Order: sequence, then structure tokens, then C-alpha cells
Amino acid sequence: MKPKVFVTRPLPAQAIELLAAHAEVEVYPHDSPISREQLANVCRDVEGLLVAGTRVTEEILDAAPRLRAIATASVGYDNIDVAACTARHIPVTNAPGVLEETTADLTFALLLAVARRVTEGDRYVREGRWTEWQWGLLHGADIHHKTLGLYGFGNIGRGVARRGRGFSMRVLYYARHRVSEAIERHLEAQYVDRETLLRESDFVSLHIPLSPETTHAIRALEFSLMKASAFLINASRGKVVDEEALVQALEKKQIAGAGLDVFEQEPKVHPKLLTMSNVVLLPHVGSATTETRLKMAMLAAESLIALLEGRRPPNVVNPQAFE
Ligand code: DGY
Repeated sequence: MKPKVFVTRPLPAQAIELLAAHAEVEVYPHDSPISREQLANVCRDVEGLLVAGTRVTEEILDAAPRLRAIATASVGYDNIDVAACTARHIPVTNAPGVLEETTADLTFALLLAVARRVTEGDRYVREGRWTEWQWGLLHGADIHHKTLGLYGFGNIGRGVARRGRGFSMRVLYYARHRVSEAIERHLEAQYVDRETLLRESDFVSLHIPLSPETTHAIRALEFSLMKASAFLINASRGKVVDEEALVQALEKKQIAGAGLDVFEQEPKVHPKLLTMSNVVLLPHVGSATTETRLKMAMLAAESLIALLEGRRPPNVVNPQAFE
């Protein structure tokens, strides 16, 4: 008999068809978060769960006695209580290797948009306010030959480094683990300590996963170290920034602006950010291209099938679950 699988989002048909060849599949038909009660209810007899932006708490795991495997169609897995999964010997996979370049593109789009005031200019034209060419209209900040500071240097950070070099930027990075000299040379990126990164960068771009250690990694102290002309770019996770401290830093003009794809309490955005013209806001769409979302869904489906069939895909985030 095929194992029962529940999918919490209406993913592309190709991924659902693949799953259906190996499992009895039920798909939540709405592209909005399934309620806790509904998820707990459907999980009662499922063996596999494919999620995307869905919270999987201990309460859900308790409601799912037959659950053997979880795949998330995202690279971040902070929505899932992985420790509780490990304790129940439930392996969890994520989706690395398919969305990093796409997210690096979006990060760079935020950087370009906030520095060159792209969204402000778009609003200005649409609102019919553009009546003549003006010398002093919408002066922004240069990007080329500026210093790009990458806070975190995994695959997304490295992708942003390559884009920065394409714009003749000086690239600095700070990460818990320094990469090899060969990678530094190849990417023309220089390792610096955290404080130097914050002090010297014209653009500080965050590329760290969310964990208890990285929560509010950027708060009042960090903003006080940044240049008044610098921009903060965040397409990683909202909670790595203390959003209240960010608002204060912007109000006090401690930094020049911010490009944000993620927020502390998504989909809520700090009301003051909504009023600031030097902030570009996006609704967590870092990996949202048609091509990449298909790859994410396919990888999640393949990973879930592998786990349910007793194989160990390389993208298991809690290999201790097999012990
Ligand atoms: C990811 O893959 O983690 C993206 O942010 C989508 O959630």
C-alpha cells in the first residue's frame, strides 16, 4: 500500500504527479497557511508531510503518530521544530542548491532599488508627479566601486559577492567560518571581523540562517557602527534584525536606508517602515521565480519519496534522526 502524504500548499502539478506515483497524496488547495487545527487533523494518519512556509510544531507532531518524514520546499527550516522531529526519529529535508542564485538576484535587486530609488521613481511617475526633467530629481547613491559587506557567506552570500564584483564593488565578508583562500581569491572577497564589516561597508547584506544564536544579530549596537550613508539589505530572515532598532536607526539617520524582503512578524511590517521612502519592502519573494519554485517543489517531492522508501537523501538537516 502506498504511504499517505499531505502537501500544505498547491505546488506545481509536476511535483504532485511525481509524489502521486509513489504515495497517496492529499493537497491543501489554498495558497495560505493551513490552520493548526486543520493540520493536526489531517496529520492523524499521514506518513509524509511536504510543507512550505508552514509551522510544524511539537503539537502537530503529537497529532501525527504515523509521521515518518518531512520535506520542506525551502532552504530555511526555522518553521519546523527540528529538535522535536529528531527526538521522534523523523528526518527532515530542506531544499538547498536550487534557489541560491535566484535569491542572490533578488538581494541585488533590493540593493539596486534602494540605492537608486527605483521604487520611489516608479511611484513618482505613476502618481503623475513627473512634469519636467530636473537636475535635482531623485539623487541616489552609487553602487559601483562601493564596499559590499556580506554578513554570512554561504551559497547566497557568495552569489551576491559575484554580482557585486560584476558591479566593480569591493567585497568584504564576515562569517563564523572563514572560507578557503582559493574561494576568497576566486570571488575576490576579503574576510574581515564583524565590526570592520559593519564600519566599512556601504551595503551590509545579511545571509545568515535564523537560529537562537542569530536572532537579533543586528540591533542598536550594530546600527551605531554602520556608516550614515550605508544601506542594510535583508533577504534572509526577518528575526535576524531587531526591527524596532532598525526603525530607530533610520529615524536617527544612523543609516541611509534599507532593502527588506523579510520581517520580524511576517506578514506584519512595522508601521513606521511603511511610511519611509528610503526603505524598499518586498513580501518575502527571494526565491519566487517560476523556474526556481518548480525546482524547489521537485526537490522536496523527490526527498520525501526517498525518505519514505528508506533512502537517505543528502539534504537531511537532522541526520541524528536516523540514530
Ligand atoms: C527559503 O527557501 O528559505 C525561502 O526563504 C522561502 O521560504
